[in-house]
Amino acid sequence: AATLVKKLFLSGKMVSINQEITFEEAEEIAIEYEIIAEHEVKVDVIKELLKEEEEDASTLVKRPPVVCVMGHVDHGKTSLLDAIRETNVTSHEAGGITQHIGAYVVEVNGEKITFLDTPGHEAFTSMRMRGAQSTDIAILVVAADDGVMPQTIEAISHAKAAGIQIIVAINKIDKPSANIERVKQELTEYELVAEDWGGDTIFVPVSAHTKEGIEQLLEMIILTSELVELKANPDRNARGIVIEAELDKGRGPVATVLVQKGTLHVGDSIAIGSAYGKVRAMMDDKGRRVKDAAPSTPVEILGLNEVPDAGEIFIATDTEKEARAISETYISQGREKLLEDTKAKLSLDGLFSQ
Ligand code: GTP
Ligand code: MG
Repeated sequence: AATLVKKLFLSGKMVSINQEITFEEAEEIAIEYEIIAEHEVKVDVIKELLKEEEEDASTLVKRPPVVCVMGHVDHGKTSLLDAIRETNVTSHEAGGITQHIGAYVVEVNGEKITFLDTPGHEAFTSMRMRGAQSTDIAILVVAADDGVMPQTIEAISHAKAAGIQIIVAINKIDKPSANIERVKQELTEYELVAEDWGGDTIFVPVSAHTKEGIEQLLEMIILTSELVELKANPDRNARGIVIEAELDKGRGPVATVLVQKGTLHVGDSIAIGSAYGKVRAMMDDKGRRVKDAAPSTPVEILGLNEVPDAGEIFIATDTEKEARAISETYISQGREKLLEDTKAKLSLDGLFSQ
């Protein structure tokens, strides 16, 4: 440490021993000590593993859209999902099993939609960092009585950075102080222009309380997802993303994952960042045990050796040995650098300066 402090001092930077330095500063020093070259190679190994292979078009079949619900605090994201699930899911929900996961599958006229709630979820920051692959459509919830607020703007940036479609749900229209036109006007500043304002963004005025507009919102989601033709190959090793994970006293590490490609089966070996294991059991969003999870399905999985990070990518492997090797590579090699790379690519600064 003393050497580094001295080195920085000589290059004109005064730093104390417990001070954080920028990535660039660290890189400069690392290059000098020839640490970087070796590091880069290792990072490449991981990138190779996480790389998206081109899929043969003939293997692709239609998959449900994955929709995330975003917006400013208290604008009614969870209420809206509750309203959606009540109108569509309650009939399936035998026993009303409590769910602590923010991922739900809803069926509308025989078409499935996977919803992810984002209650200030840290998971989501990482998910967006991982890129556009995680969700297809964002429902931007804006309360009609409150209008565009800081987290509304942040949510727009996240959705744009991930390159996903945005549907605006103007919520709480039952309130006397609701002002739908004001929300439309405010959002024009962020290039979300309603059709009646001359743009092409879908706006649906809704009320989670009276359920007004909920059907239209679901229709718009189905319509939008049909336009983007969502497909995945279900007959390959699964891969996807961790939505959340925790250590359960009785069950050990529990991860809620979203399968994005392939089909995950009980008994599959998987690697998730530094964690790995064999899927011992899987539960769907209604708490039912399932044996398989197809693309766009959120499931809770048991059988990991440790709790993985939210936002981490999981890969099913042919053997447990392979899964273990991947996680070991991951632990020893450049996770920080990998995150840094992804962050740089998707940084909001970058977005705003474009
Ligand atoms: P966070 O997850 O904390 O960001 O909040 P949220 O966006 O999920 O909001 P939530 O659904 O928890 O709702 C916040 C408050 O707004 C609650 O008191 C709801 O009852 C109320 N609310 C939500 N939707 C409506 C609506 O359509 N009309 C009215 N009048 N109130 C609503
Ligand atoms: Mg909420």
